[in-house]
Amino acid sequence: MLENLKPISKDAILGIMALFRADSNIEKIDLSVGVYQDETGITPILDSVKKAEAQLIEAQETKSYVSISGNSIFNSSIQNLIFGKNHQAIESGRVSTIQTPGGSGGLCIAAHLIARSNSKAKVWVSNPSWPNHSPLLKLSGITIEQYPYYNYENHSINFDLMLSEINRANKGDLILLHGCCHNPSGSDLSNEQWKELGYLLKKNNLIPFIDLAYLGLGDGIEKDAFGVRFMADLLPEVLVVSSCSKNFGLYRERVGAVSIVSKDKTISELVLENISNIARGVYSMPPDHGAAIVGYILNHGELRDLWKNEVGEIRNRLNSTRTLFVNKMKEKNSPKDFSFIERENGMFSFLGLTKDQIVKLREDFHIYMVESSRINIAGVNVRNVDRIVNSIIEVL
Ligand code: LMR
Repeated sequence: MLENLKPISKDAILGIMALFRADSNIEKIDLSVGVYQDETGITPILDSVKKAEAQLIEAQETKSYVSISGNSIFNSSIQNLIFGKNHQAIESGRVSTIQTPGGSGGLCIAAHLIARSNSKAKVWVSNPSWPNHSPLLKLSGITIEQYPYYNYENHSINFDLMLSEINRANKGDLILLHGCCHNPSGSDLSNEQWKELGYLLKKNNLIPFIDLAYLGLGDGIEKDAFGVRFMADLLPEVLVVSSCSKNFGLYRERVGAVSIVSKDKTISELVLENISNIARGVYSMPPDHGAAIVGYILNHGELRDLWKNEVGEIRNRLNSTRTLFVNKMKEKNSPKDFSFIERENGMFSFLGLTKDQIVKLREDFHIYMVESSRINIAGVNVRNVDRIVNSIIEVL
């Protein structure tokens, strides 16, 4: 049986991570995987997380299962965080949320729900998108299409082209959108563009499917949630997948959620039964530890405030690092204009380098980035910025 298996080509992100780990050069620099690093190059555990974790461990009396839908305090807190506390979709019982193993677990549940509800529906993914979106979603058997998104020439969103392609989608299709901090481009829709897109989706009976993996890392928690909240106000059905990997720094604890907005409360109950049943079939019970921490933080005023400040610090560091990088490029008379990096959001931007230049950076300078030329901005710091900038200018 097993000899029938075919070799798998290397994952676009994990493959580079493996090359980085294998490099014994002590000066190597990792700008590949989307994991936050502070100014010293460390991925810290947030103070709010440390405190909540200590209190939870002290109070914990059992390791028995929680439930298929996970920690109920986490679920209601995450709903409020994403949609806003008094959002009409929550008040009218139209949102069903379950905790999932990371945002990826949420994407998997959402994909199976789509396949179960309307096997003909296609999911339209931005070009480019997180390289794992399409392979992950396809595992449920759904069909993927692409819509144009990023213009590599002028480093902005091809909004008119995006709308005209989405206009071709069939009634009932889903449009996968990045709630904020688009991965990999860092180019986000403005509020006006969210609105225009929302009206098109409404007119054509299309369903937004929003991946919200970086809430708080763009313009702040409330501003980053604009698209999700607007769509949930405007449309009868919205799928939202969220992650606490980046904004709570809980990567390995696998904390995520899927929240489905339905037409009414009765359908929402049906959705809850179905997503719980899909979870039972895929992984049965989600892990508890990380979600318990998030639920605890969001329900304890002091810890919640501390966490908000810590997310603010992460966001400010990402923004000031963007400025640092752009200024260094100018200072060193880079032959290429990188000023667009300051206009982009969150953890990623494309440098716009060729594959040969990226390989040269890796092999000659020990600087690692994804082969699309996406860099993790958080991998740049005051100590390594000169080396990064000089090496990029050298390969240019
Ligand atoms: C990334 O885009 O680098 C992160 O989301 C990590 C991953 O799993 O790909």
